[in-house]
Amino acid sequence: MEIASILLYIILFLSTLLSLLKKQKNGIHFKKFKLPPGSMGWPYVGETLQLYSEDPNIFFVTKQKRYGEIFKTHILGCPCVMLASPEAARFVLVTHAHLFKPTYPKSKERLIGPHALFFHRGGYHARLRRLVQNSLAPQTIKKLIPDIQGIAVSTLESWAASGQGVNTFYEMKKLSFDVGILSIFGHMERGFREMLEENYRKVDKGYNSFPTNIPGTAYQQAILARKRLNRILGEIISSRKEKRLLEKDMLGHFLSFKDENDKKLSDEQIADNIIGVLFAAQDTTASVITWVLKFLHDDPQLLEAVKAEQMAIYDTNNGGKMPLTWEQTRSMPLTHRVVMESLRMASIISFTFREAVVDVEYKGYLIPKGWKVMPLFRNIHHNPEFFPNPQEFDPSRFEQVAPKANTFMPFGNGVHACPGNELAKLEALILIHHLVTNFRWEVVSSKSGIQYGPFPVPQQGLPARFWKEPKQSQ
Ligand code: HEM
Repeated sequence: MEIASILLYIILFLSTLLSLLKKQKNGIHFKKFKLPPGSMGWPYVGETLQLYSEDPNIFFVTKQKRYGEIFKTHILGCPCVMLASPEAARFVLVTHAHLFKPTYPKSKERLIGPHALFFHRGGYHARLRRLVQNSLAPQTIKKLIPDIQGIAVSTLESWAASGQGVNTFYEMKKLSFDVGILSIFGHMERGFREMLEENYRKVDKGYNSFPTNIPGTAYQQAILARKRLNRILGEIISSRKEKRLLEKDMLGHFLSFKDENDKKLSDEQIADNIIGVLFAAQDTTASVITWVLKFLHDDPQLLEAVKAEQMAIYDTNNGGKMPLTWEQTRSMPLTHRVVMESLRMASIISFTFREAVVDVEYKGYLIPKGWKVMPLFRNIHHNPEFFPNPQEFDPSRFEQVAPKANTFMPFGNGVHACPGNELAKLEALILIHHLVTNFRWEVVSSKSGIQYGPFPVPQQGLPARFWKEPKQSQ
């Protein structure tokens, strides 16, 4: 009996020591640090109602003013630590990224597909990321320019021909979907494209709806559409395998991949990553291009200057008869600054989520294991210390000096930073080139302000009318 209790004591002592050592290894002694300042709101609901009843940016900015660069809150059933400084964002996303994991609600993960790279970390994430990054690298996407131009021109022509006002954001979504399809599949049979589009639209619609098992709801429709997408993508994958073509597009990269043990990706892994990329590419790019149109429309002098820059290229290209080249898209300094400033102003991805995988100490504060951590990109992009007069649209701020390190992160930072950033910018530049050299537009809504759906877009998606600009005979 005596020996048994001595043994029990030894085991208890060793396990306490082991857990203490484990915490020390992560640089933390739980009791030594306090939680960040802030309010956890009401029991269960926390501050979710405040967040959703006011402009989310006001919610974050008010908190930052009150508590500083790091504060705690409780939203959507989770305790969170919000970080509003460049150093803190870098800590979570870059230097200490291994202490945090990506985190998404299960209902959303089900719609995209659990194998999509942004739900993962470690080896699987790194392998998938390399494939996606290679398919979206400059040397690959420069070959897509003629096709992206084709999509941009036919889109603009169709708006002008309709003579009707269009919902700019909604139309831009179609454009960025088509460019997404192009970068993943190259040229695709029309039948497949239409089936993908129809079902993807249902998934997109259900994504932000209330997740429920009740049949007929937007969420359930989306789940059914997602299952159909799996079948359609399965057919596309089989037909590609049968043809044994070694295409250089993203699907080609996925299909030819083998890991160090000669293991290929399963059809399900490929399908989830295709939907993941389409999802990551569509609303983000559409939203930023819609903002570019809004900012140019609101500043006629700036529009004229952008037009002059683009007309010089248009003239070099024999009145637009020759296609844009990659080099030309790399030498549109003013237009490029307009895109950068639109990315800053709109801060499409206002923040991101991670979850602490261990207790973490940051600047003397404790971020407990399991808490969500949110780097607030928008707060950083709108901080007057880094961007003077942050509410003013001023592309010249990007003219001479690059933003201070880690203060400009429209595409995130670190291991999960956006691999599609060059494609998104290329798409915007090509669209702007054709828009300002051949078309004019007017906004046909008096409503100003921002609408969250959930990405920030101009009110009502910026209803606008487009028409072809008559060219003066030479
Ligand atoms: C203006 C348009 C875009 C913006 C503002 C944007 C922004 C971002 C941001 C902030 C992240 C990081 C999220 C995080 O750290 O949690 C991200 C990740 C990602 N983006 Fe984009 N993105 C855009 C366009 C695109 C495009 C065109 C594609 C693909 C064709 C794409 C594919 C992805 C993917 C696959 C990830 C996940 C990367 C990973 O987890 O390793 N994005 N994007």
